[in-house]
Parts: sequence; structure tokens; C-alpha cells
Amino acid sequence: MNDQTPIFKTSQLEAADAEPRNTSSNPTMGELISTRFSRRNFLAGSLAVSAIAATVSPLALLSARPARAQETGSVFSFDEIEAGIDETHHVAEGYDANILLRWGDGLFPDAPEFDPTAQTAAAQERQFGYNNDYVGYIPLEGSSEHGLLVVNHEYTNPHLMFPGLVTLAEGEMTMNPLSKEQVDVEMAAHGGTIVEIRKVDGKWQVVKDGALNRRITVNTEMELTGPAAGHKRLMTNADPTGTKVFGTINNCAGGVTPWGTYIMAEENIHGYFSGELASDHPEAANYDRLGIPEGSYEWANFYERFDVAKEPNEPNRFGYIVEVDAMDPNSVPKKRTALGRFKHEGAESIVNKDGRVVFYLGDDERFDYVYKFVTAGTFDPENRAANMDLLDEGTLFVAKFAEDGSMEWMPMLHGEGPLTAENGFQSQADIVIETRRAADLLGATKMDRPEDIQPNGVNGKVYVMLTNNTRRTAEQVDAANPTAENAFGHIIEIAETDGDFAATTGTWEVMLKCGDPSIAEVGATFSSATTENGWFGMPDNAAVDSMGRLWVSTDGNNPSDTGRTDGLWAVDTEGDARATSKLFFRVPVGGEMCGPLFTPDDETAFVAVQHPADGGDDWEGFGRVSYYEDLSTRWPDFNPDMPVRPSVVVITKQGGGKIAV
Ligand code: FEO
Ligand code: CA
Ligand code: CA
Ligand code: CA
Repeated sequence: MNDQTPIFKTSQLEAADAEPRNTSSNPTMGELISTRFSRRNFLAGSLAVSAIAATVSPLALLSARPARAQETGSVFSFDEIEAGIDETHHVAEGYDANILLRWGDGLFPDAPEFDPTAQTAAAQERQFGYNNDYVGYIPLEGSSEHGLLVVNHEYTNPHLMFPGLVTLAEGEMTMNPLSKEQVDVEMAAHGGTIVEIRKVDGKWQVVKDGALNRRITVNTEMELTGPAAGHKRLMTNADPTGTKVFGTINNCAGGVTPWGTYIMAEENIHGYFSGELASDHPEAANYDRLGIPEGSYEWANFYERFDVAKEPNEPNRFGYIVEVDAMDPNSVPKKRTALGRFKHEGAESIVNKDGRVVFYLGDDERFDYVYKFVTAGTFDPENRAANMDLLDEGTLFVAKFAEDGSMEWMPMLHGEGPLTAENGFQSQADIVIETRRAADLLGATKMDRPEDIQPNGVNGKVYVMLTNNTRRTAEQVDAANPTAENAFGHIIEIAETDGDFAATTGTWEVMLKCGDPSIAEVGATFSSATTENGWFGMPDNAAVDSMGRLWVSTDGNNPSDTGRTDGLWAVDTEGDARATSKLFFRVPVGGEMCGPLFTPDDETAFVAVQHPADGGDDWEGFGRVSYYEDLSTRWPDFNPDMPVRPSVVVITKQGGGKIAV
């Protein structure tokens, strides 16, 4: 989801958009409304004016740029593609980029054929879900050619999914209310997919009768574990124990743990809740800090648990890191409350030298925080079962970035510092339920929307994607967030003290300020070897391949901000080539680039194309808002009877071999 102004807003959105979320007295003020929802509350005919359009004219963006030196010293070997915008995807020459899984593809032998004109929840539960985001690969028997692909389905775009939903009358576009059947499809299209895949004769295939294939949806029963499990703030009419919850929502990025479980991060949970909570309700401040209820989904019309007036504790059961044992299709996914409750972007991990496991966590909201979780126990590579509850005990830390390039990881422990009963924290449960408020009191550094945070086991560094924050004023600039009206984001590189990922101190530097380096006002810091195709804005997800090379995917590039679609960029981090970036893959119009993920042999990259055809009004090749009957692209099928379909794409080198070598 990018940073566009919503065109049709609900009254809740307008109210929420007007006030900050992070009102703590830390360095700067916050706001809310994840842009994921401003995007899905699209509609109407006028051009959305993004904040950057007001700062830098699109004409300036499209004007000729100075020629750049081509000498790179880059560790990546491929000929970069041209940045731009059109209806399909593009990959570097010499590579194949094939569609592996599309929304609606069957995952089981009995899965019905995808029929977009008669989609049902029952069919959707047997098919690949919508808006693929995180992609993980769990090797089977150590193979890079046979494994489980795990994929999050973050959210739904009903205007692109359902025929007849948008009506046009006298030039006015209206989105009709969703029926219960459509809401049920949406709920079944959320969650995740676990599916066996295999490379046969150099080509990846889905194993439809894979014994481990599974869909996880909003109706999958899950267990709440860790400090908040069983707490009264998690009890509902349906679950008086406070330990059982149906489903997971808005699973953005994620991770695969060293012991091979699948992590789904619950991000923008606020949009699914509706209703009114009295301002003196005990949870009012807690929910306000997360923007709950925002009500952009219509689920509460049919399911009372999404109405905070009727089930006021239900939102306390979402916003967690969810762990799924993908090797057991009947396993009950666990919401690991020890890792805190906020708008979790993802949870990439690394085994520390002492065997403890460190998970890096971003809270994706303007002016929110960077966290990490260090397990109390150690990883046992010889005994998988012994690792299965490592995520229930450990320490959650929040980051404070100092002006001198040092940093502190502050433990979030009950009874320490301000995290006491005096401030409303009766126990560790209250700290993990209201993680943001606890971090506010600790004085954590307010960041420009922390997204994926990627540890690099090869060079020992950690890369923090900060996607953008156009609300940061000049007075709010600090060393770690150095750009006022930060439209294009930046990347911070952390070095933990003594290479100890569990350390409570470290150093950091801004590795890259993003945006077009030929426009001085943008202040981008790509190396001079970066070409006019190689720069990007809005870093979101990242991957490190087994050679320790950094790959960055983006969310929010479009004609009105960068004159290019989102894509996958290869970014040098070492030596003279540091901050050199090259464009490897780009998505069709309207799409966002999620994933990316490399197999252990580096011969395959999986990327997820999310919400293709969303928007459309800011691309002169289309020039109007896109919806089911009138789509800016019908990727990937280009069949007039098929809508656009978010899909996972698999990239391999023609003739085989490691990617970008
Ligand atoms: Fe779901 Fe922060 O992007
Ligand atoms: Ca993301
Ligand atoms: Ca990642
Ligand atoms: Ca994003």
C-alpha cells in the first residue's frame, strides 16, 4: 500500500486521518491510517494528489537526467532493465519470470476451478488467496528444488475481485455494499497458503496433492500463547478462556524461523473493526493508539466479533506474530504474544553466536518503532521439537537511535523503568497488549514507517527499510530520520556491538536515502554508479541471498511520485559500490512488489506481485480509476473473461545457475 490520499473516504477514515496516533511526548508526533487502507478505499474519478506531487512536479521527475558513470564494481552481475510503467512484468535479460501461483489457483486435488463470476468462500478456501505478500521457502530434505512455499495473503481489493460491485452513473462511481457471501469470500481470501512445490526439468511446479498443502484463513482456529494468553483483556463471549481465537488478518511480511516454522505478521488490523467504543471504555486509549476501529472492511455487518461495541476485547486478540508449524497440516497456529502487539510488518530472524534467536520487528506506522525479540532459550539444530515454543519466552526490546550514531535496545520488562502498575502496566501481559504505549514511555525513536528488517548473517549487519513519512516536519527531523516530508524513504544499517545480535547496544548509519538522485531537493544518496533506472523510492521488503547480497522490493512507486512501477532492486552494501542499485524486475501497473525470497542455492527467486491494477488514474496509459469491469491491466492472463490476479512469480536463469552471478 502506498501513500496516496484516499479518494472515497469513510467518515471514520477522515476522522482518523485528522489526528495523530502517536501522541506520546517522544521526539515527534504520530499519525495513523495505514496507507494500505487509504489505497483500498480508492474510488471516484479525480486524481489523487500525493504529497510528493506537491513537492516535486511530475514533469521534473520525467525530465532528462544527467548521464551517469556506468562503472560500478557491483557484486551483482546482470543487465538492468529499464524503469517504466506498463501492463506487464519485466525481468533482466537472460532470466525467466514465470507465473507460479495466481489468486484462485487450486491447491488441492478437489479444488474447484476458479470462476470469478461465481466465487464462493468454499471454493476460495481450497484456492490460493488474494494479495500475496510475504513469500517464504521451507526446504524439504534440504533441497533447493523441492520445498514448501509459504505465502501471506495480506488483504482484499473488492473492487478488483467482484463483478458488479462498482457502478458508474452520470460519471459518478459508487462502490456497493458487500453481500455476506462476498464478505465470506474476503475472509477466505485472507490468511496464508502453505503449498508443496518442486522444480522439474528446470521449471517450478505446484504439487497439488502435496500432503502438507494448507490454507489458513480468518476462520482457522489459533491459540494465544505467551504473557497475554488467558488474560481478561483477551476474553470474549466466544472465548471466555482468552486463549483461542479464530484466524489471522492482514498478514503482511513474515519469516521462516531457523527451526522451519512459518511466521505471519499481523499488520493493519484496525481496518477490520467497526462500531463505537465509549470514550471512557478501559480499552479506548489502547485502541486509539492503533486506530481501532477504522472500519474500512464490512465484516462487522455480518460478524459481531468485528464490532467493538459488541465484542470490545476482540481487537486485543489481533496484532501479533503468528507461528505456524508448516510440517503438520493439522497444527494449531500460535499467536506469540511475547513479541508484542502492534502493526507488525514482519519477523526476520537470525541465530546469534550464543544460540539464542533474534527476531527483528518493524511497526509500520508513521512515527512508530523498531523492535527486536531475543529468545530466552537457545536453538537446537538437532531437535526441532525442542525449539517449538522458543517464541514464548524472551525479551522484547525497542530501539533508541542516538544522534551520534550509537543506539540502545531498551528492554520492555514489567517492573523496570516506567513499565509499572503506576502507569497501568499490572504485568507483562499489559506491556505486550499495549506495546506502543510502553515504547512511548521508554522514549523510543519515532521512525519513518519501519517495514521489513533484514539481518545479514554474512556481513553481520541488519538492514531496516523505512518506507516514507511525508508527515515529518523540518522540526521533527533527527539523525535516524533525516528527511523532512520524507516521500521516498531510507534504509538504515545497524551493526550490533561485537557482532552480537542480542546486544543491547550498537551503532547505525543511514546507508541510503531513496528517490531520484538527479533532483537535488530529494536528497537521495545512491552511488554515482546508479543509473536512471537503478534508483527507487519506498523500500518495503528486503532479502539477503546466501552470498550476503541485499535485494530490496518497493511499495508505492508510480507515475505521480517516481514515474516507474515498483520492483526488485539489487543494492550493493560493501566497498566503493555501496549504495549502488540496479533494477532486476518490475511489476505491472498498480502493483506492489512483495517477497522477495531466494532459495538456498540462489538459483531461484520468488517474488509476489500484490494488488496489480489498483489505482490506474495516475498512469496516462489508462487515466481513470481501475475496477473489475474496467481494469488497467488483466495481468497475468490477459484474458477478457478473467480479472487481474495477484500472483507469485518465480525467477530463474535461462540455462540454470545462480541469480545475478
Ligand atoms: Fe503491509 Fe507495511 O506493508
Ligand atoms: Ca510491506
Ligand atoms: Ca525479508
Ligand atoms: Ca508498504
